[in-house]
Amino acid sequence: MSDMTEWWRTAVVYQVYIRSFADGNGDGIGDIAGLRSRLPYLRDLGVDAIWINPWYPSPQIDAGYDVADYRAIDPAYGTIAEAERLILEAHDAGIRVILDIVPNHTSSQHAWFKAALAGDAAARDRYLFRPGRGTGGELPPNDWESIFGGPAWTRTTDAAGEPGDWYLHLFAPAQPDLNWANHEVVAEFEDVLRFWFDKGADGFRIDVAHGLAKHPDLPDAGLRGSRDDRVGHPGWDQDGVHEIYRGWRKVAEEYDDRVFVAEAWVDSNERLARYLRPDELHTAFQFDFLQAPFVASVMRATIDGARSAAAAVGAPPTWVLSNHDVVRHVTRYARAQPEHAVSSIWEQARWHEGAPDLELGLRRARAAALVTLGLPGTTYVYQGEELGLPEVEDLPAEVRQDPAIAQSGGEQIGRDGCRVPLPWSGQAPPYGFSPDGASAEPWLPQPADWAAYTADSEAADDDSTLSLYRRAIALRSKWLLEVDFTWIDSPEGTLAFARGDIQVWLNTSGAPVPLLGELLLGSDPTAEPGTLPTDAAAWVVV
Ligand code: GLC
Ligand code: CA
Repeated sequence: MSDMTEWWRTAVVYQVYIRSFADGNGDGIGDIAGLRSRLPYLRDLGVDAIWINPWYPSPQIDAGYDVADYRAIDPAYGTIAEAERLILEAHDAGIRVILDIVPNHTSSQHAWFKAALAGDAAARDRYLFRPGRGTGGELPPNDWESIFGGPAWTRTTDAAGEPGDWYLHLFAPAQPDLNWANHEVVAEFEDVLRFWFDKGADGFRIDVAHGLAKHPDLPDAGLRGSRDDRVGHPGWDQDGVHEIYRGWRKVAEEYDDRVFVAEAWVDSNERLARYLRPDELHTAFQFDFLQAPFVASVMRATIDGARSAAAAVGAPPTWVLSNHDVVRHVTRYARAQPEHAVSSIWEQARWHEGAPDLELGLRRARAAALVTLGLPGTTYVYQGEELGLPEVEDLPAEVRQDPAIAQSGGEQIGRDGCRVPLPWSGQAPPYGFSPDGASAEPWLPQPADWAAYTADSEAADDDSTLSLYRRAIALRSKWLLEVDFTWIDSPEGTLAFARGDIQVWLNTSGAPVPLLGELLLGSDPTAEPGTLPTDAAAWVVV
C-alpha cells in the first residue's frame, strides 16, 4: 500500500460481486476462498482496492442485500476467520478492502425484525410499523411504491392471527426499512462499522445511502410515487440523513485512512454534493455518468457537472460505468444511443431493445474505459468489465433470481444478466469459475461462447480488453494522479482533455479525426497512426 494520504481521492477500486467472482469449494457459488486465490490477478491488474458486495448471513432474497446478521459471514461464502485472512492477504498485495454496509433495511430474518413481529415494542420501534388506512386498516398507510414494484408496505398478522399493522419496505417485503429516528439503530450501525474497521476493513460502500431518513410523518408522495421520480419524495434524500453520516465520519476518523462511498441516487449533483461535505462522506458514485449515452457532448457535460459539484465541497468525483444493478456497458453501448442522458427507466427498457451489435459495444466500452481511467478522481471497475463482458440478455426466466422480476409483475427484466459468474480459463463452462470436479454448476449459467473472454486467454493477448485495462491502470498510477485537468478544444463529436503532458481523446462522431502527438495507449489496436477512428479513445503525449 502506498502511504499517500487520502488514497481514495485517486484510487481504482475493483467491485467484487462475491457470488460470481470465483468459487473455491465447487458448490457453484463464489466465495472468500475463491477470492483469496485470485488476489494475484487483482494485484496484476493494478487496482488499489476492492469493494466486496454483502457477504453477511442472508436468506439471499435480494442477493445478500437482505442482511440477517451484520457481524458474521454467510456460510456459503466462508467464515469470519477467512474474512480476516482475506483482509490481511489483500493488504499484503497492496489492495485495500471496502465492505458493503446495508443500513436502510435488514432482512426480515434479522433477530430485530423477528422480535418486532413477535410483538416486542422496543424492537417494533426500530422499524416503520403503521396502522393501515381504510375502515379496517386494509389500505397501506401511504402511497409509496417499492423500487421493485408494487406498494412499499406489507401487512402483518397480529398475535391473535388477525390482520395487523403494516411495515415499510422500499425494496422487497423481505427487506423491512429501519427507523433511523430510533437511537438504538444509530448506535447499532456505528458499532457495526467499528466491528469491521477493527478487523482491518478500509471502508464501506453505503447501500441506498439516500434512503435512511424518511419524512417523520410518512406523508403521501402524491404523483411522485413512482420509482423514477424521486424529486421531493418524502422517502428519499431527506435532510435528516446527513446527521447520520456526520456520526459515521466521526467513527471513521477514530481510525487511519478509512473511506465511505455512497450509493445515492439523487436528482442533481448539488444534492449529491451535500453527502460529500467535509464532515460527511468521502465519496459518492456519479451515476449520471453511468446513465450517459456514448455521446461525447453528453459525456463532457456530465464530467463538467460532476467535477464542479464535487470540487465545491472538496471531494473527488467518483466514476463508474457498470455495477451489479445495471446492464453491462458493452451491451448498453451496443445499440443506438440517444443524444441525452437517460433515466433509469429508459435504462431498464431501452438498453434491451433490438439486436445488440456487441462488437461495436465493446469498441465503445474500451474507449469509455480510457476516458474514465484518464479522469481525475476515483474510478470503480465492475468485475468482468476488464474482460469486456457483455450482459447475458438471454438468461432463461427460470434461472433468473432477481426479486424485482416477480415483484414488478414482470415489468422489470431484473439484474441477473450482469451477475453471471466470471470466466477464468478453459473452453467451456464453468470456465475455471469453479475448480475441476466441482459438485455443482455455476449458480447462473454461463454462455457457451465465453471462451474468448476468459482471463487466461485475454492475459495472453496483447490487444485484449484485459491488457488494455492493465496498461491503462499502470500508466495512470505513473502519470495521471496528481496532474491538473484542462479541456482542450476538439472537433464536433469528440472530447479531449489534458492531464499534464498527456491528452485524452474520445471520438464518438462517426468518422475518424486527426490525432496529434505520440500514442501512449489506444482503445483501437487497428487505428492508423495519426488518426483516431470513431468509437475509440487514445492517450497521447504532446
Ligand atoms: C442497492 C443495491 C441493490 C439492492 C438494493 C437494496 O441499490 O445495489 O443491489 O437491491 O440496494 O438493498
Ligand atoms: Ca463456493
